[in-house]
Amino acid sequence: MKTHTLLMPLDMHLHLRDGVMLEQVAPLSAYTFSGAIVMPNLVPPVSTVEDVKAYKQRIMAAVPNDYFEPYMTLFYKNYDKRFLESVKDHILAIKLYPAGITTNSEGGVSSFNIEEMRPTLEAMSELGIVLCVHGETDGFVMDREAEFMSIYEMLASNFPNLKIIMEHITTKAAVDMLERYPNLYATITVHHLLLTLDDVVGGMMMPHHFCKPIAKRPEDKEALLKVALDAHPKVMFGSDSAPHPISKKEACGCAAGVFTAPIALQLLCEIFDKYGKLENLQAFVSDNAQNIYGICPEFKEIVLEEREFEVPAIYGNVVPLYGGKKIKWAIQSVE
Ligand code: DOR
Ligand code: ZN
Repeated sequence: MKTHTLLMPLDMHLHLRDGVMLEQVAPLSAYTFSGAIVMPNLVPPVSTVEDVKAYKQRIMAAVPNDYFEPYMTLFYKNYDKRFLESVKDHILAIKLYPAGITTNSEGGVSSFNIEEMRPTLEAMSELGIVLCVHGETDGFVMDREAEFMSIYEMLASNFPNLKIIMEHITTKAAVDMLERYPNLYATITVHHLLLTLDDVVGGMMMPHHFCKPIAKRPEDKEALLKVALDAHPKVMFGSDSAPHPISKKEACGCAAGVFTAPIALQLLCEIFDKYGKLENLQAFVSDNAQNIYGICPEFKEIVLEEREFEVPAIYGNVVPLYGGKKIKWAIQSVE
C-alpha cells in the first residue's frame, strides 16, 4: 500500500469560531496539524491583548492535547505602535479585511488611504508582525481579487520590510504578483486547487462549494496548481476551512465558507499524488510556512495511505467538502 509521511503539517489560515462550534471543530484540526494561524473574525473581532489571550485559552481548552499550537492573529485596525509593542509577543500576524467583504468583516478597512495606514504598517514592519490580507474589492464577483492587485502593489512597494500574505489566492493575477515583490507571499486552500466556478454554480447550485473568494476559471486553478505542486517557496497551505452550521449553508442566503479541516491533508495527498509531486507536499504544508513565518512547530508525524475513505456526511452540524463522497487517501497514523 502506498503511504506518505508528513511532518508538522501547518494550516496557515483557519477559522475556528467560538463556543460550541469551536469545541466541535478545533479537535479535528488539532488531530492532524501541528499548528494553525487562527483568524480573528469573531463577533466582536479579536482586537485587544485580552481578546487574544482569552481566545487562545478557549482554543487550548477545546483541543484534547497539547500538540497543537494556535498561532493567534489580531483583526486589523489602525493601531498605534505602543499597542503593537504590547501585543507583539502574543500574535503571529494581523489580518486585514476590507470592510464588509466577507463573514464578520464589517469593522474592517473602509478606505485604503495609505497615509492613514502608514503609522500602523510602519510599526508592524519594525516589529516584524506579518500582515495577512483578504484581497478583494467590492467589484464584480469574478473580478474582485484581480482588482485588488493594485492595492497589494501599493502596500508591497510602500512597506518593503513588511511581510504581506495574499490570503487564499484564486487567480493567475495573484500568482503572477509573487514574482514582482519580494515581500509578497500567498496561502492557497485545498478547495481552490479542486474547484472552479463550474463546481459552484455550473450545474446545480452547490452551497458547500461557495466561499469567498469564489472559485474562478480553469486557467486560474491551473496557475494555483502549478505553484502549489512545485511548492514555490513563497506559497503555503492555508485551508481557510470556514465552518458554518448546515442551517446557514443550505439556506436562502448561503454563508460563504468551505469546511475542509478534517480532510485537507488527505485531499492534498490525492492531488499531489495525481500529479506525481508528493515529494513537494512537505514543503507546501509545512516547511515553506516555517521559513516564511520563522516558526518551529512541535513535532508531529502523520502517515497517510492510499485507501478509499468515505468523508462523513456531516461533522456535528457542519457539512464538509465532499461530505458522503469517497476520496482516495486516508490517515493511517498520527504521532
Ligand atoms: O468563504 C469565506 N468564509 N471566506 C472568508 O473570507 C471568511 C470565511 C468565514 O469566516 O466564513
Ligand atoms: Zn478565511
